[in-house]
Amino acid sequence: MFPDLTRDDVFRIETARLWLRWPRAVDAPAFARLASDQDVARLMTCLPQPFGPVEAGDFVLGARRANADGRGLVLALAPRNDPGAFVGMVGVQSRAEIASGDADLVLGYWLGKPYWGQGLMQEAIEAVLDMAFMLPDAQTIEAPVREGHVASRKVLARCGFPKPPAGASHSVITRDAWLSARAGVASRIALPLH
Ligand SMILES: CC(C)(COP(=O)(O)OP(=O)(O)OC[C@H]1O[C@@H](n2cnc3c(N)ncnc32)[C@H](O)[C@@H]1OP(=O)(O)O)[C@@H](O)C(=O)NCCC(=O)NCCS
Repeated sequence: MFPDLTRDDVFRIETARLWLRWPRAVDAPAFARLASDQDVARLMTCLPQPFGPVEAGDFVLGARRANADGRGLVLALAPRNDPGAFVGMVGVQSRAEIASGDADLVLGYWLGKPYWGQGLMQEAIEAVLDMAFMLPDAQTIEAPVREGHVASRKVLARCGFPKPPAGASHSVITRDAWLSARAGVASRIALPLH
């Protein structure tokens, strides 16, 4: 699904405030610490609990494998002025990897609690959607939605995901909807600083 461009760990996307880069083994301690916060962990049902540096290291390895094989683009988030730091993750993976819904790609994302409320995830998701919809095979991307998860629903709506029907477990955005919503809007992807 993903091209050679994204299959090497020098690949990155820059936005106004973020680096989106491949996760690395050295991210595991920060990943474990931020994802173990109870306010994050209760929303991240895909991660085992307890989630320590070993589990985080395993997740990083799996993400790197998916990226290298072209099955996904799973990226660590770092402040643009501190690319070695780790503040959360965003990614899309081929649906076959996740086995839910019927979209081509499945979006996942989370941010460490100290970084909430600054609009960072919208910036990250829009950059990933820009990149993912450049791929000829990606026609639809689904995102999980949870009843009552107001912050996440707001972010998805601001990124252009349609309001899901009551009781739905995910929302799907199509390439056409994305491209027409973004017509005339500057891409979130910024020119590299370095
Ligand atoms: C959901 C999440 C990605 C939102 O990212 P974010 O960059 O903080 O989002 P924003 O800054 O754009 O905030 C979105 C809205 O949520 C609100 N919000 C942010 N943090 C909040 C909090 N702790 N409690 C309640 N509302 C909050 C914001 O006020 C904002 O609404 P407003 O602009 O109308 O005021 C982030 O909170 C997160 O990663 N949470 C834990 C993991 C998770 O839920 N992942 C998604 C799984 S489906």
